Amino acid sequence: HTQAEADVETKTTFSPSFSLTASATFQLATVVAVLGVVFIYLKFFRRANIQAKDAPPFIPSQVPFLGSAIEFNKNPVDFLIRMKNQYGPVFTIEMAGKKFTYLMGNEASSLLFNSKNEDLNAEDVYAKLVTPVFGKGVAYDVPNDIFLEQKKMFKTGLNIARFKEYVPIIEQEVRDYLTRWGDKGEIDLFEAFSEMIVMTASHCLHGPEIRSILDERVAHLYYLLDQGFCPEAWLLPSWLHFLVPKLRRRDAAHVEMKKIFYAAIEKRRASGNKGEDMLQTLLDTPYKSGRYMTDDEIAGMLIGLLMAGQHTSSSTSSWLGVFLAHNTEIQRQCYEEQCQVRGTTFEPVDYDQLKSMRVLDNAFRETLRLRPPIHVIIRHSRKPLNVCGYTIPANHSVCVSPTANQRLTEIWGEECANFNPERFMENDGLTSTESKFCYVPFGAGRHRCIGESFAYLQNKTIWSVLLEQYQLSAIDEFPEPNYQNMIHTPSKSVVRYEKRK
Ligand code: HEM
Repeated sequence: HTQAEADVETKTTFSPSFSLTASATFQLATVVAVLGVVFIYLKFFRRANIQAKDAPPFIPSQVPFLGSAIEFNKNPVDFLIRMKNQYGPVFTIEMAGKKFTYLMGNEASSLLFNSKNEDLNAEDVYAKLVTPVFGKGVAYDVPNDIFLEQKKMFKTGLNIARFKEYVPIIEQEVRDYLTRWGDKGEIDLFEAFSEMIVMTASHCLHGPEIRSILDERVAHLYYLLDQGFCPEAWLLPSWLHFLVPKLRRRDAAHVEMKKIFYAAIEKRRASGNKGEDMLQTLLDTPYKSGRYMTDDEIAGMLIGLLMAGQHTSSSTSSWLGVFLAHNTEIQRQCYEEQCQVRGTTFEPVDYDQLKSMRVLDNAFRETLRLRPPIHVIIRHSRKPLNVCGYTIPANHSVCVSPTANQRLTEIWGEECANFNPERFMENDGLTSTESKFCYVPFGAGRHRCIGESFAYLQNKTIWSVLLEQYQLSAIDEFPEPNYQNMIHTPSKSVVRYEKRK
C-alpha cells in the first residue's frame, strides 16, 4: 500500500478489540459470499439434484472428486451386488465428478433396454470413443435411425447360406495357425485367440482381398486403432485428443487403414466378381432413400464390424480356455462331443454339426454369463426418467452391468459364481422369462448385438479344431479378471497344451 492509498482507507470498527480496513472488509465479505454461494449450491441445488425426494439413493463417498471410483474398480461386480443388497435395485454413485445410476435386476434394467434412444442416448456416451476409430458417417456418428439401417444391412449379410461357407474357411485358417504350436508347450490364450479371431473374421466378413493383405503392418494398424479405446479418449473432450500421443497415433492409423480399404473396394469393383462377404453386401445394398454407401462409409463399416467382434470374442474364448483348463471334466465332455458329432476320424466341421454341439455351446454360453466382455452398457439420460418408483435426473450415465445381473443369487441360485454349463441344458438357464434382462451378454432392445450368431459360429469352429488336436491344462491359480481394462480379460491366460494322441 502506498501512503496515499492508506490515507484513503477509512478504518471500520466492529468492536473495540477488532477493527479492519475497508479493503480487508471487502475481501472478507467476498470470501463469505463465495462460501455462501457454494453452501447454497451444495445444500439446495446439487443435493436437490441427487437427493430429490424421488431420486435414486445416492451412495456417499469420502474421497473428493474420484468418489466411489477406487472402490468400484477393485471389483465392480462385488461392489454393485453389495450396493444392490444395501440400497435396492436403483442407485447412484459418483465417480470422477460424473454421476452413474445403476439399474440392477430385471425390472430396473428394462428401463435401459426399452427406452427410446432420444431419452436414454447411446451416441452421447459412445461417439467420442468410437467415431475416431470407425470414422464419420457410421454407427454413433449418424442419427440412430440411420445406424439401425446400417445394422439391418449387416444382418442381411450374416445369413445362413453365408455361414455355411464360412465354417470351412475358419476351419482351414485355424488348422494353418495351429501348425506353429507343435506337440506341446505353453501358450497365452488371449494372444492366440486375438490372432485367430482377426484372421478368421477378416477372411469371412471382409473377404479374400482384405484377408490377403492382413500382414504384420495391418495388424499393427488395428492395434493402434484399438489403443484409441482408452480412458483418456473417454475423459478428454475430442478437441483435446491431439494432446495424447496414442490418440494422435490412432488418428494416423485410421487414415492409413481407410486407404487400404479404399484400394480393396476398388479392386472388388474393378474385378466385376461378386463375393460372399460383408463387403459385397455393403456395395450392393442401398439405404431406404435409394442412396448407396460411399467408399468412406463402407470402409468405416468394415472397420467397425471387425473391431466389434475382436475383443469381445477373443476375451470370451480366452476365458472359456481358462475355464476348461481348470475344469478337466468339462473339457473331457467337450472332447467326447467332438468325437460323437464328427466321428473319431474327425470329419471336417460343418454348419449343421456346430448346431448339434450342445456341450460346447453351453460352455460358451456359461462363459458369457460369468465373464461377459461388455461388462457395462451405458446410456446418457437426456431427461428425467422414472423407474421402480424413482426419478433418475437428466444428465446421468445410466448403466446396466451384464456381469452383475448375470450373477444375482435370486435369479441364478446360490451356486451362481460356479462355472456350470449344464445349467443351460434344460432351458435358457433362467428361472423365469420374467428375468430376460438378467442374461444380456449381447445386450437387448434397439442396440442389441447383430453379431451373436456369427460369434457362436466363429468361436465354436475354432474350438472344434482346437479340442480335436489339443488338451489344455492349467499352470497358475485361476486368474482374476483384469478390471483395469475396458474389457475384463483374464489377468493371466497362459496355459499348457499337449497334442492328443
Ligand atoms: C452391440 C456384445 C460380437 C457387432 C453389442 C452389445 C453388446 C455386444 C453387449 C450392446 C451394446 C449396447 O447396448 O450398448 C457382443 C459380444 C460379442 C459380440 C459378447 C462376442 C462374443 C459381435 C460381432 C459383431 C458385433 C462379431 C459383428 C460381426 C455389434 C453391433 C452392435 C453390437 C453392430 C450394435 C451397437 C448398437 O446398436 O449400439 N454387442 N458382441 N458384435 N455388436 Fe456385438
